[in-house]
Amino acid sequence: MECAACDVNAYISSKGLDPAKMPAHVAIIMDGNGRWATSKGKNRLLGHTQGYHTLKQIVYESNRLGLTCLTVYAFSTENWRRSGDEVGGLMTLMLEAMRAEIEELIQTGIRVRVSGRLAELPEDLREELQAASHRTKHLPGLIFNLAINYGGRAEVVDAVRTICKAVENGELRAEDVNENLIHDHLYSPDLPDPDLLIRTAGELRLSNFLLWETAYSEIYVTPVCWPDFDPSNLVRAIADFQRRTRKFGTVVEEAIS
Ligand code: FPP
Repeated sequence: MECAACDVNAYISSKGLDPAKMPAHVAIIMDGNGRWATSKGKNRLLGHTQGYHTLKQIVYESNRLGLTCLTVYAFSTENWRRSGDEVGGLMTLMLEAMRAEIEELIQTGIRVRVSGRLAELPEDLREELQAASHRTKHLPGLIFNLAINYGGRAEVVDAVRTICKAVENGELRAEDVNENLIHDHLYSPDLPDPDLLIRTAGELRLSNFLLWETAYSEIYVTPVCWPDFDPSNLVRAIADFQRRTRKFGTVVEEAIS
């Protein structure tokens, strides 16, 4: 008898990981594309192109490992401040990548989602992302969530604005505002909070990524630049996660592990 969950567990075990302690949601700050390229005397855009190839490997590995969700920081609300060439190059890269990858993503059963202020993106990219999201929403595999024109503060501002409008319209009272209500107005309220946040290229900061959702995430920072981050690095990060004791504000004896 075929057993998809058994196959996934066998794959997880083959990587030296414990199937019972897998993170459901991994979020990644894909940093270091520019440094990787510059260190090789190349244009920064080449680093982003190489970063796209890395991302492809990591998406399929995440799916093989049975993760529920992988969220990646592809373009922040602050990234518009980069040169016009770099911003334009990134937009084109993301558009071409979505066009090139969508059929294989569908065949593999991967769901594409997007978090961020999509209205401010170029129309062709926005439409491609929306179409990808629509075409894959019924699929059973990994949720591949692209944070594009995403900012953690912008996300909270957008949620608060929507809630304020509901209060103005008399649909809500100020006393109804609590953590659950704010959570319900974030970009992807149906996704679990990230269990594990990975940052490549060594910086020890959040850079406005998933500020609300990472309240209790385990953080793993590696010096490896994103273009060099391969599936074995992902497995290493998850192995490190599996050795942690998560406390969620409680004491160790009562901890949920
Ligand atoms: C940060 O490195 C990386 C980005 C701002 C862009 C990430 C984008 C990709 C990996 C390509 C995404 C492709 C698709 C299909 C979504 P950096 O440029 O800040 O590196 P640096 O700190 O070394 O300069």
